[in-house]
Amino acid sequence: MNEESAKKVAAQLRKPEGEMGIEVGERMNTGNLYMNQYVIDVLRQGTIGNVLEIGMGNGFFIEEILDIDASIHYTGCDYSETMVAEATRMNQQFIDEDKVQFDLSAADKLPYADQIFDTVFTVNTIYFWDDSATELSEICRVLKPNGRFIIAVRPRHSMKDYPFVKYGFTMFSRDELAEVLTKNKLVVRDVVEKIEPEVEFNGHILKGEALIISAIPA
Ligand SMILES: C[S@@+](CC[C@H](N)C(=O)[O-])C[C@H]1O[C@@H](n2cnc3c(N)ncnc32)[C@H](O)[C@@H]1O
Repeated sequence: MNEESAKKVAAQLRKPEGEMGIEVGERMNTGNLYMNQYVIDVLRQGTIGNVLEIGMGNGFFIEEILDIDASIHYTGCDYSETMVAEATRMNQQFIDEDKVQFDLSAADKLPYADQIFDTVFTVNTIYFWDDSATELSEICRVLKPNGRFIIAVRPRHSMKDYPFVKYGFTMFSRDELAEVLTKNKLVVRDVVEKIEPEVEFNGHILKGEALIISAIPA
């Protein structure tokens, strides 16, 4: 991947837009498949209930989440119009059944009342948050006092050599991510670390690792 393509891919991963955004969204479904599966395993281990996902991309994994329990209501918010449109197109049946809603919104100003979600989760998004304190404070505001927050990333050591991360990604080690959560009124309850099978993304074989931290409001 040359520098120009790496820059373009980085911008599209941050905020997928237009035709290329639709394609990148589809490629993320395979490139991030294992990480999303591990997150779904963690979701299964507790109450899911009224759940918010921040940065759901095209919402490919929602059907599998809804299959866990008929009482789940899923809300997805993403600041990319292209991803909200794609997620809506792919999940129209669940929207019609009032099981799913999508909102065009940035994570630093969530359009929800205080303490309404049992679960908030986010996968591969914190790299793009300029000031994660603001986003984490919004997450704490909308979580019920006994709610769960689950965050998944590729840890710094596993992604630092990807060709696109030098263009605007903030990376975290396990300890750095745990520290950011702790500093922002969250208590770490569980850490899952996985080495993923290799996957193809944009013509490159990526060796992935997943770090998934579960936390509760302090
Ligand atoms: C790299 S993609 C990850 C998509 C999906 N969660 C996955 O793991 O495959 C990042 C997604 O988060 C969204 N996103 C990034 N920063 C955001 C923010 N501050 N507020 C809302 N959405 C955001 C992007 O638009 C994009 O859809």
